[in-house]
Amino acid sequence: MALRMTYVDGEFRETDLATVSVEDRAFQFGDGVYEVVRICRGRLFAWQRHLERLRRSSRKILLDLAAVEQEMTQVVRQLIDKSGVESGQVYIQISRGQSWRNHAFPRPGVKPTLIVTVSELPMRTWEDFEKAESAVIATDDRWLHCDIKSTSLLPNVLAREKAVSEGAQEAIFARDDRIVTEGSASNVFMVSRGVIYTHPDGPLILPGITKELTKMLIRRLGIPFEESPFTVAELRDADEVFITGTGHDVCPILEVDHQSIGDGKPGDVTRMLNQEFRKLYEHENFEII
Ligand code: PDD
Repeated sequence: MALRMTYVDGEFRETDLATVSVEDRAFQFGDGVYEVVRICRGRLFAWQRHLERLRRSSRKILLDLAAVEQEMTQVVRQLIDKSGVESGQVYIQISRGQSWRNHAFPRPGVKPTLIVTVSELPMRTWEDFEKAESAVIATDDRWLHCDIKSTSLLPNVLAREKAVSEGAQEAIFARDDRIVTEGSASNVFMVSRGVIYTHPDGPLILPGITKELTKMLIRRLGIPFEESPFTVAELRDADEVFITGTGHDVCPILEVDHQSIGDGKPGDVTRMLNQEFRKLYEHENFEII
């Protein structure tokens, strides 16, 4: 089993032995926010961007991140050191704390619960990415605050399960069964007649850190790019489809709903962006990339 270690309530433990109260707000209501950050050579990839998104998510749900932010930034590094994980990911969850079950916020003074888990996750090579990854379309019936990285993920869980039960790896959400928004845990791009498209940021999707960095690479490479909505029909008809996300990097999708995209092989644009993205891991200063 891959190495996993967790910090909760002031203690470092094996993840299987770490516990929270049954009255924790994340457990009762999904009342919390989270981040998933890549660990590369024992350091945090794009850490500054993840931290800023966590601050934004917290502000939007009126959660007092400041009460645990210093502890969090120290613990994340301590946990990486203690676990010895060189290549992996860190999961950070902050809930509104522990309090008797009542929908309204707990009384002032209840401290948010901080959970940090570090686990191993090997870096993938292009050969790994070339193995067919497929997706299915799922109805996007989520709320209108998908830009908040909230622990309330039931629609994403149901969509991913639909994908897995149909032998696919990812579910691609479509609003009104028509407009492609994002994946259950990734952002979605397509390449059509030499132009790259992805859904614009806003309330319908999570502004992915990998998406932001991929946009930077697209601009650098001078590939025509439009951040504008596209339909499921256009996606099916695309030359290339790829998803981006922490752990996914830039990952080709070769089939949607069991139908090949393009010629059914990873396309040149996807391969180039995948390679350029993986080069970012070699940067000296990637924590503030
Ligand atoms: N999910 N969209 C959704 C709905 C996501 O859950 C994620 C990431 C992304 C990609 O964001 P980023 O590039 O910042 O990882 C887009 C994480 C990895 C998760 O829930 O495990």
